[in-house]
Amino acid sequence: MSEKIKATINGSEFEFPVIEGTENEKAIDISKLRARTGHITYDDGFKNTGSCQSEITFIDGETGILRYRGYPIEELAEKSTFLEVAYLLTNGELPSTAQLDEFRREVSEYTPIHHDMRHHFAGFPSTAHPMAILSAMFNAVSCYTPHLTESTYDKQSFEEATARLLGAASTIAAYTFKKANGRPFTFSNPRLGYVENFLHMMFTDPYTEYEIDPEIVKALDLIFVLHADHEQNCSTSTVRMVASSRANLFASVASGVSALWGPLHGGANTAVLKQLKQIHTSGMTIEECVRLAKDKDSDFRLMGFGHRVYKNFDPRANILKKACDRVFSVLNKKDPYLDIAKKLEEVALTDEYFIERKLYPNVDFYSGIIMRAIGIPVNMFTVMFAIGRMPGWIANWREVRENPDSVIYRPRQVYQGPTCRSYVPADKRG
Ligand code: CMC
Repeated sequence: MSEKIKATINGSEFEFPVIEGTENEKAIDISKLRARTGHITYDDGFKNTGSCQSEITFIDGETGILRYRGYPIEELAEKSTFLEVAYLLTNGELPSTAQLDEFRREVSEYTPIHHDMRHHFAGFPSTAHPMAILSAMFNAVSCYTPHLTESTYDKQSFEEATARLLGAASTIAAYTFKKANGRPFTFSNPRLGYVENFLHMMFTDPYTEYEIDPEIVKALDLIFVLHADHEQNCSTSTVRMVASSRANLFASVASGVSALWGPLHGGANTAVLKQLKQIHTSGMTIEECVRLAKDKDSDFRLMGFGHRVYKNFDPRANILKKACDRVFSVLNKKDPYLDIAKKLEEVALTDEYFIERKLYPNVDFYSGIIMRAIGIPVNMFTVMFAIGRMPGWIANWREVRENPDSVIYRPRQVYQGPTCRSYVPADKRG
């Protein structure tokens, strides 16, 4: 018999069904609570609320498990590639060789954005934040593909929209960098793989030669794989929320970019580097920094530490830590920021405050240092996160749109404002 939860409200007893996931997580289904009892639940920040049932990604934050469509992140990180993972997330299964070849071909075909879009770039000042450009540009791309701005897609349209978004993400990111630096745009090279081509568009121009290093390609591909999806995080929930109104994929993804921008989410990788720079240039000691992070009168936090769901370790951080060591040793690089990061990690991990609150380095702690070694400027770090997260956003959009029972997301609230009062004309207000 399926489990039921009993609640007594104002002396009356109510029963609520329990939904069980494939990994045995249990959720009390309160969808009829208000209709039956007049009450709603309250859960600031949705810390304890399941907003959907999903088949895409599984996380167990207590034991540090992350799986895409059932595949452990450690295996995907070691054996797969970003485009293969993108196919897996957006289609549900790993592709055959022929399917992967076709997927790569399609992404490559749509990587060059419409030539007229260079006028959009011309309209932005060179000081524009790359995330602002990225968000605006995803909506702009859809202006050139009106057939993809419908609220429903057939299989072929979905595949085209997916390929266009994955391709456009790399081109827009690279052009944003060029725009900021006043360098000419470099067209996509269809003979190159996804990451190679991105590095080519980013760092090559008629005046600059850039040799694509396979180690760097491997490291960036890994960063994209590790960021490809992460269950109901802030940006993905935003994408699902927008999708629930039947908005098209481009509009939904553009809103995801905006949500990702914040320093508590995707902007954390930028914040980590800014903090390391601050420590480096100010001569602040690691101990002073940790003391400040623990001081409740200061709003200083150790960026790159802590996570809403991982309360033991972030498996992505463990993988990236190893990749970070590898990149620095293979490329024979030294970085004072890496030395500071390692000391910070050591001190924080042995400090009672961090141990008690289960605050461990998260994925952003190492990804920024690797991206810095690759030559990606700090204000582009969150853009890299957005490229990586694209398959997850697309997969979640699809899940919402293909669910015949999907309803518009519309949370309730507990109103705490003034009760009813009468309008007072301006000249009578005190
Ligand atoms: N430095 C110092 N103290 C911290 C930190 C930190 N980085 N993170 C949490 N705490 C403390 C917090 O002050 C609170 O202490 P107390 O219980 O004494 O009031 C306690 O730990 C719990 O923190 P919380 O803010 O309630 O936890 P949360 O689950 O709401 O927030 C978080 C998670 C990631 C927003 C937070 O840990 C944080 O701000 N970290 C720094 C920013 C960061 O690295 N963000 C990237 C997240 S990973 C990328 C992604 O998946 O989006």
